[in-house]
Amino acid sequence: MTKPLQGEINIPGDKSISHRAVMIGAISEGTTEVTNFLQGADCLSTISCFQKMGIEIENTPEKITIHGKGLHGLKAPTEILDCGNSGTTTRLISGILSGQAFSSTLTGDASIQKRPMLRIMKPLREMGANIRSIKDNNCAPLEINGSILQGISYQSPIASAQVKSAILLAGLYANGTTSVTEPYVSRNHSEIMLSHFGAKLEIKDTTVTIHPNPVLTGQKVEVPGDISSAAYFIAAGLLVPGSKLLLKNVGINPTRDGILRIAKEMGGNIEILNERTACGEPVADLVVSNSTLHGITIGGEIIPTLIDEIPIIAIMAAFAEGTTIIKDAAELKVKESDRIAVMVDNLTAMGCDIEGTDDGMIIHGGKPLHGATIETKKDHRIAMSFAIADLMTEGTTTLLDKDCVDISFPTFYQTLEDLQK
Ligand code: S3P
Repeated sequence: MTKPLQGEINIPGDKSISHRAVMIGAISEGTTEVTNFLQGADCLSTISCFQKMGIEIENTPEKITIHGKGLHGLKAPTEILDCGNSGTTTRLISGILSGQAFSSTLTGDASIQKRPMLRIMKPLREMGANIRSIKDNNCAPLEINGSILQGISYQSPIASAQVKSAILLAGLYANGTTSVTEPYVSRNHSEIMLSHFGAKLEIKDTTVTIHPNPVLTGQKVEVPGDISSAAYFIAAGLLVPGSKLLLKNVGINPTRDGILRIAKEMGGNIEILNERTACGEPVADLVVSNSTLHGITIGGEIIPTLIDEIPIIAIMAAFAEGTTIIKDAAELKVKESDRIAVMVDNLTAMGCDIEGTDDGMIIHGGKPLHGATIETKKDHRIAMSFAIADLMTEGTTTLLDKDCVDISFPTFYQTLEDLQK
């Protein structure tokens, strides 16, 4: 067991918002300056894809500057576009590429080449896109021959911001308006940022409509800290006896703040201070204090608002008294790893009483856990979740491929170590 965690953390920039700033900046007229950009491998993949399409992007520690060329200013890439480990890059860029006057090929690492792409290929094809899976397995590599697109009204079977955003971005290039309806509202960063750059959107309940061919103009973007990265320190502050942490500048967009609602429902003491907005995104500072947690049931419309936090919520549940049931989260199986199987296997290795279900997991918490060798499957969120579990267990934990945290939080281990000094 570790000593109390005390101190203040500046949470690195939001991954979803950083991707969108580069993409929308690249297809806007003029200069976009982005501060607190996430220098994680995923967002660097997005930068590199747009550089290969002729967009000049300067990346300095203070800010990134994107010299946008307007909706029709991208050039045909002369190389394959490598999206690395990033599902957001692959799916959102596919929407933009579908409406270009050129052909392109997208690929990524072994994990990306296994992730489902039919979910975007289907609606994009309905719009007239010419997009195919080169290996004919509905995964990347994808070949996209740009074509004339038509607006559609799409009823998405899943609450996925990547699907919604791919369609909205393609909708910029379509003839007529494009609408997407989701079963529940997923993260709305594309809608907020597109509006900030001058696009015309209407939002009603779970439907977003976008009007084509806007003049998008370069902007200044201040990226809030990523609540998905803050989540590990929210859990650490709540779990480790005697801890109190100040997490500064955290995005608390209601389509992302499920972790705060769930942590409070489990008995967590979290104060929300200095609420403000940055480029339309709600932001605050959080004070997290050690608390006694209890198990709860998590499912339904809150799931999309905390989908990336379920691995760390499962760790919180393992140390909470009583049973936690996580349901309606089958999407976990198609993330960077199968996060249901990987959480069940690794928590079981630590001695936790946990079972996987078709759409989630059931965790009987409160038993002391021990160290174990953790198969991260090179999934950044699994590595960070078990680094936090390690603070609460007796014995040694070894994280395999622990450097995968570079995807979304390159300074994660250093930040954790600094709090223990
Ligand atoms: C993201 C949306 C979510 C999330 C991912 C980032 C985004 O995926 O899991 O890490 O930036 O739009 P889905 O839209 O597939 O649920």
